[in-house]
Amino acid sequence: MLIAGNWKLFKGPGEAGSFARALAGAVDTAGVEVAICPPYVSLAAALEGTTGSDIQVLAQSVHWAETGAFTGEVSAAMLKEVGVAGAIVGHSERRQLFGETDETVARRVEAGLAAGLRIIACVGETLAERDGGQVEEVLRRQVGAVAAAVGAHAQLVIAYEPIWAIGTGRTAAPEQAQEAHALIRAVLDVPILYGGSVKAENALVLLSQPDVDGALVGGAALEVDSFAAIVEAGRAAAATKG
Ligand code: 13P
Repeated sequence: MLIAGNWKLFKGPGEAGSFARALAGAVDTAGVEVAICPPYVSLAAALEGTTGSDIQVLAQSVHWAETGAFTGEVSAAMLKEVGVAGAIVGHSERRQLFGETDETVARRVEAGLAAGLRIIACVGETLAERDGGQVEEVLRRQVGAVAAAVGAHAQLVIAYEPIWAIGTGRTAAPEQAQEAHALIRAVLDVPILYGGSVKAENALVLLSQPDVDGALVGGAALEVDSFAAIVEAGRAAAATKG
């Protein structure tokens, strides 16, 4: 069970450090893995703030090249040098707003894993694709691209984030999440997180689904209390799953 907070474009170094310290004091990580994913410039502060705790610090992306003319990008070796444990790759905001494709996502996943990072690779359909009955086709294509590149790597995690549920307050029904996760697992058998309007109030029922192995949390990960409550739900769900 992994509960990861994706901070997106929130929290500079000062806020990241104090948040990390407060979170480390607020969560019990026995029986659950906890990760926070700050912006690049806040990684060092988050690492310092989590020192002595089991909370992992991950970046929000990673480039496939080690060095080169790639303005604005950061390599896996650079993340490792800072002490970062892994990275999110292929978030739908990267795909929709910054031109990421299945191919660039696969290249980033491959390079990150090869460097020893843990990678959370994101997939998920748009509302139009769901309404058009294309969920299976989209997930098979997106997950298939990752599977073809790296297979069921021990450091790989998939996050199923239906785009219509991100930041909308509209969560996938537990049955919808379960159905998508089972489909994903049939293509690539690695831990699968659900993401999309996960809150303290809905976390337990989502995390209790048999094929939901954790959560990737956006808005509700920005406050210590709400994120800690989701971590507690993760512990409870993990305990009942055994
Ligand atoms: P919200 O939890 O704000 O819907 O964001 C989900 C997400 O995109 C996490 O990566």
